[in-house]
Amino acid sequence: KISAFIFDLDGVITDTAEYHYLAWKQLAEELGIFFDREFNEQLKGVSRMESLERILAFGNQAERYTKEEKEALAAKKNEHYKQLIEKITPNDLLPGIAELLEDLKKRGIKIGLASASKNAFAVIERLQIGGYFDTIVDAANIQHSKPHPEIFLTAAQQLGVPCVECVGVEDAEAGIQAIKAANMFAVGVGTKEAMKDADYIVESTADLNYESILKAFQQK
Ligand code: BG6
Ligand code: MG
Repeated sequence: KISAFIFDLDGVITDTAEYHYLAWKQLAEELGIFFDREFNEQLKGVSRMESLERILAFGNQAERYTKEEKEALAAKKNEHYKQLIEKITPNDLLPGIAELLEDLKKRGIKIGLASASKNAFAVIERLQIGGYFDTIVDAANIQHSKPHPEIFLTAAQQLGVPCVECVGVEDAEAGIQAIKAANMFAVGVGTKEAMKDADYIVESTADLNYESILKAFQQK
């Protein structure tokens, strides 16, 4: 049986994955580093500092900056990101998410959030959906980033639910790996190629539906 759903935030609940992309792209271009959506796929679900390291390495600039300078660069990206998320309203929930959260609540299924973002609480607040979540685990509560399973394991533990009864929902490759490593059922939102390790794939959040997920879960 399914006892809990644990959601990623950025790119699953709302389209902040796009805002992270835009904010990193602006910073990368200021540094003279080419940045496109294909490269951005590798940053999804990855922490702020690790994302910066990957961008600098991609632009052959890994050795150019001191630790302090890198922290300043990451802070600059975050300032831009924070400006972008100020515009978020409850209308910015991705299609089908409000209905799914409501359906899960009615069925008595626990709901958790597992987000690598230090801005997770601010985004949830702007979306006005905090009341749906039985637990929120964000970057501040964990040591290891996705693809490490820690964030999903912590959420399950806080919900008091065994991992085998949890469904994780993700849009990032690193996130799917984290869910699988936590021994949970992985639902991927995205293309078949990007979500190839997921147990169940939907192209859009509009196609996330409890009954269909349960069927796939039981068949596994
Ligand atoms: C993840 C996003 O949820 O959070 C990444 O997928 C982002 O793109 C990471 O870099 C960290 O977010 P923040 O808000 O702490 O910089
Ligand atoms: Mg995501």
